[in-house]
Amino acid sequence: MSKLQVLAVASEFYPLVKTGGLADVAGALPGALTEEDVTVTTLLPGYPAVLAGLQGAEAVLERPDLFGGPARLVAGRSEGARILAIEAPHLFGRDGNPYVDGRGVDWPDNAQRFAALARVGADLARGLIPGWRPDVVHGHDWQAGLVPAYLRFTEGPAAPFVMTIHNLAFGGRFSSDILPSLGLPWGAYSLDGVEYYGAIGFLKAGVRLADRITTVSPTYAREICTPEGGFGMDGLLRARGADLSGILNGIDTTVWNPGKDAALPQTFTRKTLDDRAANKAALCARFGLKPDALLFGVVSRLTTQKGLDLLPASLPTLRRLGAAIVILGAGQPELEQAIQLAAQPGEMGLFLGYDEHLAHLIYGGADALLIPSRFEPCGLTQLCAMRYGCLPVVTRVGGLADTVIDANEAALAAEVATGFQMPVADTASLDLVLERVAAVWEDQDAWTRMQRNAMKAEVGWARSAARYAALFRELAA
Ligand code: ADP
Ligand code: GLC
Repeated sequence: MSKLQVLAVASEFYPLVKTGGLADVAGALPGALTEEDVTVTTLLPGYPAVLAGLQGAEAVLERPDLFGGPARLVAGRSEGARILAIEAPHLFGRDGNPYVDGRGVDWPDNAQRFAALARVGADLARGLIPGWRPDVVHGHDWQAGLVPAYLRFTEGPAAPFVMTIHNLAFGGRFSSDILPSLGLPWGAYSLDGVEYYGAIGFLKAGVRLADRITTVSPTYAREICTPEGGFGMDGLLRARGADLSGILNGIDTTVWNPGKDAALPQTFTRKTLDDRAANKAALCARFGLKPDALLFGVVSRLTTQKGLDLLPASLPTLRRLGAAIVILGAGQPELEQAIQLAAQPGEMGLFLGYDEHLAHLIYGGADALLIPSRFEPCGLTQLCAMRYGCLPVVTRVGGLADTVIDANEAALAAEVATGFQMPVADTASLDLVLERVAAVWEDQDAWTRMQRNAMKAEVGWARSAARYAALFRELAA
């Protein structure tokens, strides 16, 4: 098999810049695809953290004007992965979160910033770098959605385009007045172009114009074709059903490895599960919690998607069951406040913010991880949790439904259960599942068996990387 060249276009990439799972996926997939004889080069906005993190950086092209200012394309590496970064200070020279300013407000020029990313992606698909044209372009989320629009409304041979949807809730929607500023003709403003309910939709354009569409789990691929899960795009997604598939995310099992994790006070494996107790003790000590109670953990963006607004109402149940909870999260201020106010002393440890190190300690120390999402395209935290013997407690939606085996009677008897599912995200279901978790916790042998099953589950990238590779090869042929 010859090596296939893929250009990935993304707005996040672990470890250079991350706000959520998109970064983990964009960062891990290139390494996994190497095993499939696919070479990935990732095009990223040149945020300060990206430019500072690149090894062997070298300018490959200059562009006197990219959306109102000069730009350079810089090639370099991040832990072996090939990166092309767009150094354009007027667009990307801002520290912190890539999408919002210090007060949490969207940057007013986000449309132009990510149009610029897509524009350069499209130009690379056409062979912008002399002697190199990728075989396939792979765009992640709305930030890459305009790549096929630039290809469709300009001339010349170009690589095929795959659009991957990580989250349909973020559509990249902007007022139609800005179309000229994006360098697209008015002809692009149509049902078969960028038009989306009287506005411009970046993701809509990507879905309409891509050669293939993937999303990050098979169940989510079905859910987004329904009015409940489609965010207004279900009709289009149904129409494109033949080109749409769900490929489950994995996690990087070298980053997430309880046997070698420097962030843990005590490493452990399936065979030395007893050692895990030292991590729970450290976690409890840090937050002043009793070390022998059933300990739930949360590692999450605090948004309504994640269902954590349900937590305050279920704290009395947790209390009655004698359990405690450690929460690591950041997001909607009203939600942060509601959670803060609901807790009584000694039952909750709360860290509002982003902390990679603490995330590892929670996966490696808490007994169960709470993920009561209303919808979840894939979800990575349940995979991290399973790998660390922390049993996920999830809503039966999206990728959570596809990756967690519920501890129902049959699964417990067959010794295949890896976690707990609740049918929908509401208080009654949450209370009920918390009771079920506590009931299994009473039987420590059954609990340990579940931990071993969870740690055995296949959560790496191998199988899904092979599916992406097959898709890319089919398109390139
Ligand atoms: P989403 O992308 O919707 O936020 P995922 O489950 O796909 O959800 O990915 C979340 C990723 O971000 C995981 O790697 C998780 O460990 C990490 N994460 C989420 N919140 C925090 C936080 N407050 N601190 C550290 N890591 C976090
Ligand atoms: C999105 C989704 C999450 C998914 C991640 C990576 O942020 O909310 O479910 O795991 O993208 O694909």
